Amino acid sequence: MRCTEEGFTCRSSVQAVASECRWKVGLSLGTAVTAYQEAVVREQTLRGPRGFLLPTVIGYPKGRFPGEKGNEVVVAIGSDALSRAETFNLVHPAQGTRANRRPALLDFALRLRHQMRKKRKDQPWGVVAYPTHCHPDRLRELRSIAGELFERLILVEEPLLLAMGKYHELSTRCALFVDLGASATRFHLFTAQAPFPEGEVMIPQGGNAIDAGIREAILRTYPELLLTDSTIAQIKEKLGFVSPINRRSTLQITYGCSRRDLDLSDLLQEACEKQVAVVLEGLQKVTSRCPSDLVEEFLGNVFLLGGGARLRGLRERLQLELLQQGFSMASVAYVPGPQSFIAKAALRWALATADDRWEVPLFNYR
Ligand SMILES: Nc1ncnc2c1ncn2[C@@H]1O[C@H](COP(=O)(O)OP(=O)(O)OP(=O)(O)O)[C@@H](O)[C@H]1O
Ligand SMILES: [Mg+2]
Repeated sequence: MRCTEEGFTCRSSVQAVASECRWKVGLSLGTAVTAYQEAVVREQTLRGPRGFLLPTVIGYPKGRFPGEKGNEVVVAIGSDALSRAETFNLVHPAQGTRANRRPALLDFALRLRHQMRKKRKDQPWGVVAYPTHCHPDRLRELRSIAGELFERLILVEEPLLLAMGKYHELSTRCALFVDLGASATRFHLFTAQAPFPEGEVMIPQGGNAIDAGIREAILRTYPELLLTDSTIAQIKEKLGFVSPINRRSTLQITYGCSRRDLDLSDLLQEACEKQVAVVLEGLQKVTSRCPSDLVEEFLGNVFLLGGGARLRGLRERLQLELLQQGFSMASVAYVPGPQSFIAKAALRWALATADDRWEVPLFNYR
């Protein structure tokens, strides 16, 4: 049995091909979190990469609505929007299919562009990640948004970015990546540095499903407690855990001069344990698609990424579960920087792509 925190070796430093564009970006626009990485090539020297993570959320000042002229300046996005939750109307533009999804996504993209370009006069070229099984409508939407952000763009499927992963190259023959996102948990098999045919499984349960479980359990136990979606997500991120971790998770409620401590340990553990079941189900499904003599090798190189990989105890628990199932070679590890891993790989792709391979955005959202 091997227990590793870092299962990757970095064999080569970032290499950039000659390009007329000096500023390259890798972007992953998730339903919960937007991650981007940028690098600037100046006098044949690479500056960066620099990374940014922001919640995919947009805040509108009261009385303002998605799609209105001038929104790119008055709206707030990311943590800035969350910190103004009391006075701004918050919208999660990449979640759901509400009528205002389109204009809200456009406002988010325009504000992001405003933030990205604050200190620069030139325009970036960007590689944008998209998940496997992405609906064609969503892909069109992503391409239009990318057209607002970048002068040239390439859309690349997430497993290909993971496979390329030259930024942190795999040192093993087979690997199994588990991407624990907000809307889904995705499983990808690789042999050498290529995706494995048919080796993709998606279970439409992720961090949002855990949040829903926590909300339900809190309402059942403390019906008087009304919490916003982002507070519930924060409670999970700060206090959530699965066994073998055992901790006391208390929430302090202050109301005027009175203070109350609520012990949420059991409730949080119960809700978070569902993520373990989802991962085990996905591992079983995805390994049932590969030759039986390779199963041990895949399970010997399981890598967790995405925000859900940060759940306390998850790696240790999965390791134990696989051992109990008889996989003595099982090894579960985190990738470095689990939430920005895909954006980093996208930047790597951007830096390695020759100028004649980029798309010129032909249409946009407006
Ligand atoms: N410490 C933590 N413990 C548990 N969950 C966490 C932790 N930190 C972040 N998360 C969860 O990870 C999820 C966000 O992960 P990620 O950034 O990979 O999602 P995403 O890419 O936006 O989602 P998707 O891929 O489904 O579009 C959220 O549900 C968030 O609450
Ligand atoms: Mg994601």
